[in-house]
Amino acid sequence: MKKIAVVGTGYVGLVTGTCFAETGNNVTCVDIDERKVEQMRQGVVPIYEPHLDVIFERNIKANRIKFTTNLEEAVEEAEIIFLALPTPPGEDGSADLSYVLGVAETLGKIIKEYKVIVDKSTVPVGTAELVTEAVAKHANVPFAVVSNPEFLREGFAVDDFLNPDRVVIGTEDEKAKQIMTELYKPFIRDGHPLIIMDEKSAELTKYAANSFLATKITFMNEISNFCEKVGADVDMVRKGIGSDSRIGHKFLYPGIGFGGSCFPKDVSALLKSGKAVDYHFEIIDAVLRVNEGQKTSTVDKLVSYYGDLSGYTFALWGLAFKPDTDDIREAPALYIIEKLLQQRAKIKAYDPEAMENVKALLGDKIEFVDNQYDALEGAEALLIATEWGAFRNPDFDKMKELLATPTIFDGRNIFELDRMETEGFYYSSMGRKT
Ligand code: UGA
Repeated sequence: MKKIAVVGTGYVGLVTGTCFAETGNNVTCVDIDERKVEQMRQGVVPIYEPHLDVIFERNIKANRIKFTTNLEEAVEEAEIIFLALPTPPGEDGSADLSYVLGVAETLGKIIKEYKVIVDKSTVPVGTAELVTEAVAKHANVPFAVVSNPEFLREGFAVDDFLNPDRVVIGTEDEKAKQIMTELYKPFIRDGHPLIIMDEKSAELTKYAANSFLATKITFMNEISNFCEKVGADVDMVRKGIGSDSRIGHKFLYPGIGFGGSCFPKDVSALLKSGKAVDYHFEIIDAVLRVNEGQKTSTVDKLVSYYGDLSGYTFALWGLAFKPDTDDIREAPALYIIEKLLQQRAKIKAYDPEAMENVKALLGDKIEFVDNQYDALEGAEALLIATEWGAFRNPDFDKMKELLATPTIFDGRNIFELDRMETEGFYYSSMGRKT
């Protein structure tokens, strides 16, 4: 059992704290937001993440996780302090480290014995050094700073945390290596490694992983666009290349571009980090450019199909950047909405989880409806922006009754071409025959 403080109860902090409690540790989560802390004390999970509520409740009951706004108290008890603080993109696209460095400086003032300070946030190469300097300004006891990037995906966060493909620990402090290895022991099984390296390599591993995955998706999106031009089927090409074990089947699904709070931010930050040392990432630069165009490629298809879009009403299924989340950060659906509104089209939107977030952003610029079928009523065509499970097996007869014409523009390839033909839909998807 280890005593842990997790500073910052955003997405990563909350999952980290809860999952460490689940493996028998004693966790104190710290946040400056009093209302949120009070909510969590009542057992309310402030984010939507499948399975998190169950283990959250279990560990509160077992007294293994508690919540406070008092950093000093939490730190005093803890042997390991995780920093899971926001690192929003600054005006120039580089990560803003003011939260991380601010807390690091405070830690320097309050630690009274050796502590392991762990960076869990995605931070640029060299941040561990800056955190060390910030803590050292006031600290008069030894401490170690560790980079321990997180690779969990929204929607699968609990499972990814409890069953990681790998754990990366960046530190050259021997005592910290031992403490971190003991902490992660319950998660290291089935041959999935714990990889210990220096701090900078650990920091870069996170950016390299996200940028590689974003590149893999973008590459497939370009192949998909080319398939449309030459009449090939991207599904076949995807299966064909994915069977090569060096390529693998994952992250080869073409669509309306990658979004979310991680890929766009991290890919931009890597490009920016390169610039800072006079290195230009050609591939990363191209990935960002291709992704921009990809997000609104479905609207381009609408324009070539209908011509002028003004006066048309379109149904939009899916607002979240991907299924099983209410997260709309950098969601392709928002770019589609923006472009459709510019073209003076009307939108009736439905999403199982993300509507409140979009309402807060767009107000009454678009119409929100209570279920997926209400969106279709009187709409010229349906656009699919997120591949929610509930959209995959709909009542096609009802859809045909409600839509003005049986027309679907699918940005996520959720239906089979044969089925669409049998059902009598005009079906335009990504990289497949129309
Ligand atoms: C991503 C990474 O997958 C995690 O490993 C990482 O820890 C996380 O960022 C982070 O840095 O915190 P996440 O943003 O939750 O996780 O979402 P993904 O499931 O990776 O999807 C990202 C985007 O790529 C989505 O917009 C999704 O629709 C798109 N995507 C994904 C595709 O277009 N095609 C695919 O084949 C896969």
